[in-house]
Amino acid sequence: MSEQLQAVKGMNDLLPPDSAKWSRVEGAARAAFERHGYAEARTPIVEYTPLFVRSIGDATDVVEKEMYTFDDRDERSLTLRPEGTASCVRAYLEHSIHKKEPVTRWYYSGPMFRHERAQRGRYRQFYQLGCEALGVAEPTVEAEQIVMLVDLFRELGLDDLEVVVNSVGGPDDRPAYRAALVEYFTPHKAELCPDCQRRLERNPLRILDCKVESCRKIAAGAPTLQQFLGPASREHFAGFREALGALGIAHRVNERLVRGLDYYTGTIYEILSASGDLGAQNTIAGGGRYDGLIAEMGGPPTPAVGFALGVERLVLSIPAEPESYVPPLDVYLAALGRPARLACLKTAQELRRAGVRVELEHRAASMKAQLKRADKLRARAVVIVGDDELARGEAVLRDMAKGEQRNVKADELPAAIRALLG
Ligand code: HAM
Repeated sequence: MSEQLQAVKGMNDLLPPDSAKWSRVEGAARAAFERHGYAEARTPIVEYTPLFVRSIGDATDVVEKEMYTFDDRDERSLTLRPEGTASCVRAYLEHSIHKKEPVTRWYYSGPMFRHERAQRGRYRQFYQLGCEALGVAEPTVEAEQIVMLVDLFRELGLDDLEVVVNSVGGPDDRPAYRAALVEYFTPHKAELCPDCQRRLERNPLRILDCKVESCRKIAAGAPTLQQFLGPASREHFAGFREALGALGIAHRVNERLVRGLDYYTGTIYEILSASGDLGAQNTIAGGGRYDGLIAEMGGPPTPAVGFALGVERLVLSIPAEPESYVPPLDVYLAALGRPARLACLKTAQELRRAGVRVELEHRAASMKAQLKRADKLRARAVVIVGDDELARGEAVLRDMAKGEQRNVKADELPAAIRALLG
């Protein structure tokens, strides 16, 4: 027997009616981003591998363990993008956007790939919607991104949100902090997982992000970066919090918040949702500043800040049923017999050209079956055409909400339908 064909583990099909809920969520997000001045950027789904290794960091879980990397036929190493920021920065530099405008605001959407342990809210192919603001150093811009997200999530029906913020400092703050971490973790070296033992030498900050329980316990007592922030980082963070306060955004500072990607400097933030039983995967959006990345990638020093939201997690945390996002049908055309169907085919097309949502049964189905289908589609009007109606140049128009029907002349049908739909 042939093997049952299945989707790749951790990668999901998105089918109706769930796709209707997704579409609403994506539409609302795009509209919100555009209201805030972000324009869409689409980059390829694959990039040359070094882009991610250099930007995300070679000691991160994403680069060390989770990337889908393969050689293409030209024997160059390619990677399915695990996130969107690196590609945006690459495109920004490749097209010299920095020479064309002082501030760039891009948004993007699409699938990302990480070989993670698949569970509810965590997948190997997942969708992100993200925004990047390049060229702005002022902390008000990250506060604006957070209020944009909070407003969007509320619009989508989420009210149990938590905004968590922290500062991971700038390059000037890091050496002393790094030294403090090495000093703290070295006596515990034997208790750390093999990855963290390596991280202790390469990038001790990454130990703070380790998911292994024994490492987490030790990391809980580690010094926090807040104690090592210099005056510039402190001032920036205070300005950011002041802006959040001015916008009325309640937030919590978690000095132990770290992010899984190396490029962050200064402000980092996450938005958590308590609705929709996401369990541990309740971070629906995360982001922060990466003021050093563009220069590291060969561009001029350019401050930048952005975030990405996980579409699956957002959709799971919205309580409304997917069916409630499926719009009702405007008109169901029930034709009985071939000549009637041919006439209805033409009528349906005329109505659709006028913007009406119409479904027509092409198979020779009974009237009962057709009315059942119209009911299922929540059709607002049903038009019935049989041989008799056709001979008289008429159709039966039924108002499903009122349960009333009447005969209408064929040439008056479009106007009668428009009137019924309101
Ligand atoms: P991230 O925290 O790795 O950041 O991902 C952002 C969001 O994507 C997460 O909060 C989560 O909702 C979703 N997500 C991540 N991994 C998975 C997964 N395996 N399954 C389902 N959802 C997932 C970034 O990717 C950064 N590029 C964000 C950013 C933009 N920072 C600055 N600019």
